[in-house]
Amino acid sequence: MKKILVLTVSDSASRGERVDVSGPLIAEILKQKAPELSTSIELRIVSDEIDEIKNALILAVDSEYFDLILTTGGTGASPRDFCPEATASVFDREMPGIAEFLRYIGGKHTPFAYLSRAKSGIRKQTLIVNFPGNPKAIRESLEPALPLFAHCLSMLASVKEHTS
Ligand code: MTE
Repeated sequence: MKKILVLTVSDSASRGERVDVSGPLIAEILKQKAPELSTSIELRIVSDEIDEIKNALILAVDSEYFDLILTTGGTGASPRDFCPEATASVFDREMPGIAEFLRYIGGKHTPFAYLSRAKSGIRKQTLIVNFPGNPKAIRESLEPALPLFAHCLSMLASVKEHTS
């Protein structure tokens, strides 16, 4: 059974001033297109504070053992867009190809995909991937990346078997 966390990074959604569309959209696509991966999906929202993002990721990996964490939002160039820095600061190993692939796939729809500074990497045995906040970006890039997540999670699970 895989545990997946969808973490929305947004000041306004965390204050309840805006309904979060992107987190639920990620969960819906996962359930429909990767039911084998998506046995347990939890949604959470944090503000754009770098420490809040870091703490949410560390808790989810180190204490709650999520297998996959997908964040959405805060990857652009706005003054409060710190999600990539917060995320990369908790990696043991960066896995840059997944974020590169998201930009490549998004770039087939719009060159603006390359404005996302999203990161991807591994902490302990958890894969963490940033997505942009725009629902359009999620619709364009999540489904094509699902085979990469599945393969990476199976590699990480084999590490778990070896270490348990
Ligand atoms: N990726 C795809 N596939 N489609 C898009 O429309 N929008 C981009 C980019 N990634 C976009 C995309 C834009 S306009 C921005 S500013 C960045 O994501 C960062 O978005 P974020 O700050 O919401 O994370």
